[in-house]
Amino acid sequence: MVVWTDFERATIQDVFSKIDAQSVGQQALSRCLVVYPWTQRYFGKFGNLYNAAAIAGNQMVAAHGLTVVRGLEKAAKNMDNIKATFTDLSKLHSEKLHVDPDNFKLLADCITIVISASMGASFTAEVQAALQKFLSVVISALGMQYH
Ligand code: HEM
Repeated sequence: MVVWTDFERATIQDVFSKIDAQSVGQQALSRCLVVYPWTQRYFGKFGNLYNAAAIAGNQMVAAHGLTVVRGLEKAAKNMDNIKATFTDLSKLHSEKLHVDPDNFKLLADCITIVISASMGASFTAEVQAALQKFLSVVISALGMQYH
């Protein structure tokens, strides 16, 4: 089981209560699709992902970015049970979507960058450490159903 300090627990609750989920989700998923263009292959039904401007204006990217952040919020509300919380989501990404799990880390890094930019000076090294630990646990949970 993952051990969380009081600071880590408080920080994760604070971060997810403060961020604009819609904006962070859209920006993070857009960034991932631009910086790591091979991730576009999973989103064939999203239509035009031709360049950064098209990705930024794509409403399906925006909607899905929000879905991803909602998933993270669920993990933040279940910090002692992230693995069980994400069993079905892991199965979906593995068995149905066939997402290469290396990509989880790439999207997580984009989420970190976008949250950092949105929080400014309050995104201290300690806050970053707590967020990265949380995202590592999420990535590990998402990878559990890969065999
Ligand atoms: C769907 C979360 C990473 C590709 C989803 C859904 C959630 C989610 C909550 C919706 C599931 C449902 O409809 O029941 C996450 C989280 C991630 C992550 C928290 C990591 C931080 C990725 C990555 C990719 C990916 C890296 C591909 C590069 C997809 C696709 C769908 C999906 C293609 C289905 C979209 C659709 O059909 O509309 N994800 N995901 N996910 N995810 Fe992820």
